[in-house]
Amino acid sequence: MSAVPLTAAAGSFEMNPWSQHHLARVEQALSQWVGVDAPAGLGDAMRYAVLDGGKRLRPLLVLAAYEAVCSGAPGEGARPAESSSAAMDAAALRAAMDEAALRAACAVELIHAYSLVHDDMPCMDNDILRRGKPTVHVRFGEAQALLAGDALQAFAFELLTPDATLIPAATQATLCRLLARAAGSAGMAGGQAIDLASVGVALNEEQLRQMHRLKTGALLQGSVLMGAACGQAPAAARDALSDYGAAMGLAFQVVDDILDVVADSATLGKTAGKDAAADKPTYVSLLGLAWAQAHAQELLEQAQAALARSGLADTRALAALAEMVVSRSH
Ligand code: IPE
Ligand code: IPE
Ligand code: MG
Ligand code: MG
Ligand code: MG
Repeated sequence: MSAVPLTAAAGSFEMNPWSQHHLARVEQALSQWVGVDAPAGLGDAMRYAVLDGGKRLRPLLVLAAYEAVCSGAPGEGARPAESSSAAMDAAALRAAMDEAALRAACAVELIHAYSLVHDDMPCMDNDILRRGKPTVHVRFGEAQALLAGDALQAFAFELLTPDATLIPAATQATLCRLLARAAGSAGMAGGQAIDLASVGVALNEEQLRQMHRLKTGALLQGSVLMGAACGQAPAAARDALSDYGAAMGLAFQVVDDILDVVADSATLGKTAGKDAAADKPTYVSLLGLAWAQAHAQELLEQAQAALARSGLADTRALAALAEMVVSRSH
């Protein structure tokens, strides 16, 4: 399963073949790995939560960041290996890092899927529709939904630390730390706590931004950082990619707030109009629809500017994904 080079014939970059290729890799890997052998119906709930649905944006961000870092700095070509055994070692290491990136892509999707299962439960947003299907607790009951979320979270970290692998131990540890940080109290879970505490509360813009950065932005930014870690990004490129991830990650939740107002449930695959009904503070409720739309564009420009200063030779997939985040209809 080797990656398709980003530079297509004639130097043009086509997002669709790129994303279709990587989506197929991710779907195949998730289907092969998730919930297999889990007892007492837990595997069915895990597979239902993860497979057959979702845009898979976070896995694509991992893979796009990884490939961008592997594309190197402009003008930097791959140097010929000094000996055939050095070439073999380099090829084996590259294959191990390709595998690490695919594992990271799946792991972050597992954390995301778990966050959705719990987000939809009656104790949180109490939603009945997700990815065009009944939510996990509606289909399997609340206790099984809780456990499916727990098991998906644990499995994410298991995926990052395989037995008998050439993925360096330090890379495995870095990936675990990045994912844990993005998912925990300094990231998604912390943001969800702020979200629940903010029902009916008039947050100011800074407080709203902080909530969105944590509950949603952190995992998107973490996806980019995990891809960068698999490609062993130099510090300057990693910092620029981190800025890209922060801007794009916030834009993602601003657009989620907008879509809750302007889109319908059939298009979204989840119940539209929930934020106002539940009295949640959002970019639209605080600042208005037009302002939220303009802000999403501003954040897109910030994300693109960060890519431009990354010094990486090929950031076209990351640029296309940021555009997709802001222009999406679901
Ligand atoms: C929805 O995320 C939850 C938020 C963080 C706003 P996505 O819109 O990426 O959901 P899927 O994965 O495509 O279903
Ligand atoms: C959820 O935000 C963010 C998560 C961490 C799951 P929302 O509650 O706005 O997500 P949706 O709109 O239900 O997908
Ligand atoms: Mg929520
Ligand atoms: Mg919700
Ligand atoms: Mg929402």
